Amino acid sequence: MDDIRIVGGRPLHGTVSIQGSKNAALPMMAASLLHRGVSVLKGCPRIADVFCMEEILQELGAQTWWEDHDLYMDCTQADKTTISGVYAGKMRSSVILLGAMLGRNKKGCLGYPGGCVIGERPIDLHLFVLRELGAEIEEGNSVISASCAALEGGDISFSRKSVGATEQGILAAVLARGETCLRNCAREPEIQWLCRYLRSMGARIEGDGGDCIRIRGVEGLDSGNMQVPPDRIVAGTYLCAAAATRGKITLLNPPEGELDAFLEVYRKIGGQYKVKSGKLIADGSGIYSPVPFLETEVYPGFPTDLQSPLMAVLITIPGESYIREKIFEDRYKAALEMVRMGAHIRIRGTDASVSGGYPLRGCTVEAEELRGGAALVLAALAADGVSYVRGYKYIRRGYEHICEDLNALGGIVEKDTGTRFYENIQLQKELTN
Ligand code: UD1
Repeated sequence: MDDIRIVGGRPLHGTVSIQGSKNAALPMMAASLLHRGVSVLKGCPRIADVFCMEEILQELGAQTWWEDHDLYMDCTQADKTTISGVYAGKMRSSVILLGAMLGRNKKGCLGYPGGCVIGERPIDLHLFVLRELGAEIEEGNSVISASCAALEGGDISFSRKSVGATEQGILAAVLARGETCLRNCAREPEIQWLCRYLRSMGARIEGDGGDCIRIRGVEGLDSGNMQVPPDRIVAGTYLCAAAATRGKITLLNPPEGELDAFLEVYRKIGGQYKVKSGKLIADGSGIYSPVPFLETEVYPGFPTDLQSPLMAVLITIPGESYIREKIFEDRYKAALEMVRMGAHIRIRGTDASVSGGYPLRGCTVEAEELRGGAALVLAALAADGVSYVRGYKYIRRGYEHICEDLNALGGIVEKDTGTRFYENIQLQKELTN
């Protein structure tokens, strides 16, 4: 029961609202551990990764409950300090709980973090910043144990920019003694949302959004209560869906000013958009131009998470496009599946050259990770005929209702409905093999 069936070839039209951001919600949930009481995240996405983080908080002793899309976390008794490998292995973001556990209880132990298979994904920068703040860390075969007498602020410079390690440093430093200066920080909007949330709880943080973040440690934090911002990657994915099918869509609550690099590319390929009364109205019907060269970069550059969704657009545009993936070294698995649909893409290491405009035909393809999986759904929407995207479990890690949203826009996208569906997959396989 892990597949999506898509009937392609129909331009998307209509209006859709954007769910809360996964990458903002997860560190905000970790931050909630720093208050010994109830915090609430409003408009929290009900996605698999959030549920996994919720279960981890419960394992630590928190009580959690939902009221519609508002997630309540009572961390009064969340004083356990071990996260079992079964959770940590499921989700990479679990690693940032190490900083929060150290801040709260001066120790923490977790299995090695998992996550999407998009490259090596080391955690050296996470451990570096914790050590710099005074933690002793033992790296065992399957678990990492961290402890400290007290965390002490310091002047710490990252050797390269990392979203997660920056968040780790912030979470550990807010309750540390003295002042911390984190240099060469990542600047992604989700880091700013984390800092806004922590400031609303009483933390003293300045400079987020820039390279250098200053944190003055405080004794304790008050309860958190904040709206999770709209998900910029989901917004970009839906804009790509409309672009790949040459449709026109309106986003009801687009992220503000967080999609600029993407929208610049969208305009260059011939898409048009305007922001009116808080809505983003996008017209992809006239898209015609390939992208001669595009690199993924740290924020404010083009986001790596939209590289695969954009690929699903580029394969529909006649001409040569070229992408260089600079953040993760193994992020073209979905592109190889698009080739099975008829796309002409050549991969050499971190570079992909796309010869767009060849007919795409529906077939059975395999998602292996979150954003790539969503991109395959978009490619299927642009293809002729019926496609089956296997591996819905990856997609629902980050998309709350991708099928419903795309259906509301006029696509035909359905989750596995049982036997008939599997029979169709078998049939489709026989036809494509
Ligand atoms: C976050 C996002 C993810 C996004 C990525 C880049 C979350 C939950 N996930 O992931 O969706 O694709 O930012 O925008 O917010 N690195 C190291 N050592 C480390 C940590 C990272 O070498 O200790 C490397 C990574 O392998 C990668 C690069 O730094 O090549 C960037 O990774 P990072 O910014 O840390 O991404 P995540 O926080 O894992």
